[in-house]
Amino acid sequence: MGNPRLRNSSLSIVVLAAGLGTRMKSARAKVLHPLAGRPMIRHVLDTLEQLSPERIVVVVGEEMAGVREMVAPHPTVVQRERLGTAHAVMAAGEALSGLTGDVLIAYADTPLINAETFARVLAARHAPPQPAVVVLGFRPADPGAYGRLVTNSDGGLEAIVEAKDATPEQLAIGLCNSGMMAVDAARLPGLLARVGNDNAKREYYLTDLVHLARADGLACAVVEGEVEELIGVNSRADLAAAERIVQDRLRAKAMADGATLVDPDTVFFSWDTRLGRDVTVAPFVTFAPGVCVGDDVEIRSFCHLEGASVAAGAQIGPYARLRPGAAIGEGAHIGNFVEVKNTTVETGAKVNHLTYVGDARVGAKANVGAGTITCNYDGFSKSLTDIGAGAFIGSNTALVAPVRIGDGAIVGAGSVIASDVAADAMALTRAAQAEKPGWAKAFRDRKSAAKALAAKEKGERAKVKGETN
Ligand code: UD1
Ligand code: MG
Repeated sequence: MGNPRLRNSSLSIVVLAAGLGTRMKSARAKVLHPLAGRPMIRHVLDTLEQLSPERIVVVVGEEMAGVREMVAPHPTVVQRERLGTAHAVMAAGEALSGLTGDVLIAYADTPLINAETFARVLAARHAPPQPAVVVLGFRPADPGAYGRLVTNSDGGLEAIVEAKDATPEQLAIGLCNSGMMAVDAARLPGLLARVGNDNAKREYYLTDLVHLARADGLACAVVEGEVEELIGVNSRADLAAAERIVQDRLRAKAMADGATLVDPDTVFFSWDTRLGRDVTVAPFVTFAPGVCVGDDVEIRSFCHLEGASVAAGAQIGPYARLRPGAAIGEGAHIGNFVEVKNTTVETGAKVNHLTYVGDARVGAKANVGAGTITCNYDGFSKSLTDIGAGAFIGSNTALVAPVRIGDGAIVGAGSVIASDVAADAMALTRAAQAEKPGWAKAFRDRKSAAKALAAKEKGERAKVKGETN
């Protein structure tokens, strides 16, 4: 998007991420849990970066080294004690002092919000009546534990009341606090300094900024957003609900951009999946991060792709696995139960059945037969296999790397190839075949006769036993 801050000379953003996320029951910081293959907090930061702020400061807990790494190069400040959301913003104090313009406060556990929605909040700060605080509100189906927005007859915001501190009448209010707010930067430090903790949770509530600003005679306003953008992630169930929303967005985008998804609900994307035009994706396909697919590619059912590129016109699957570094060339075919890792499969090559190719090149128009394995790992290091253009690898071949198969060479089925094969040569390793005429029939006759004799003897023993009883 362009510059959404029509009249702001400066914008600073504070992202609150120090919460413990206890309801996730996880050893990992809540904001590092992934949505569409990347940590929740990266979704929030990417959205915020679209607003081109002067700075984004992330408030983290002391033990959150992983979060600090993930948000870099944005600076972090540490909130040592978790004394509430206002306390968290105060922790960013130094970074926020002496500012003019807007401070936008966002929660890292509310990852689905769009940049346009933040832009609407910022625009409201500069529209009449020039409110000192603009809160992003929403109307969830179940207001539950969300703070309630108390408005006046003009629609202006008077206060935010936390559910635990609310009267029954206030609890009946459907308009809730999403947590996102824009505040006049010049007034923020003064307002924060007056926030107390005389409430049900004994915490310093950021939500108190509203009634404090009103007490100073300053206007406060609400901008309403969509529930789908504003759900907070506090539990694994919330995470799954957020994932569904993200996936639906990605599916809609893929189709809008010209891909056919035969059954969209069964296709899973990552935030960075790229599909060309006229790509067809059959049911039950997963795109892990780092996948780029060219035009006219067909991906059949039950494929898993990660860190892979697929060029125009290729066919993948069903049941194929493309792992990081798989680069499938134009018109190439990767068939069922084929695993490809760190391998370039060049134009028009075919690897169609039950095969592992890893750390390899498969030359243009080469044909790799069923059950071929590149033995790329000796338990210590990985080695390369190079298959020349137009080569033919017979079924059930082991290619023991490092090894090169020359252009146009043929490898006989069942071979274990540990030495290079010259271009246009034929190589095979196979014990000489022995043939014994009539042996199979004689074997069957002998076995059948023995079986019949044994059955006869058993019958006679039973008869004798019956007579003696
Ligand atoms: C908060 C709001 C509530 C709103 C809801 C929306 C307050 C007092 N309440 O409640 O009105 O409806 O969000 O989801 O603000 N955090 C810190 N340090 C702290 C406490 C929290 O960094 O000491 C961070 C958390 O990591 C999280 C965010 O602030 O990203 C919100 O904290 P959380 O405890 O989830 O607040 P809620 O109870 O959900
Ligand atoms: Mg929350």
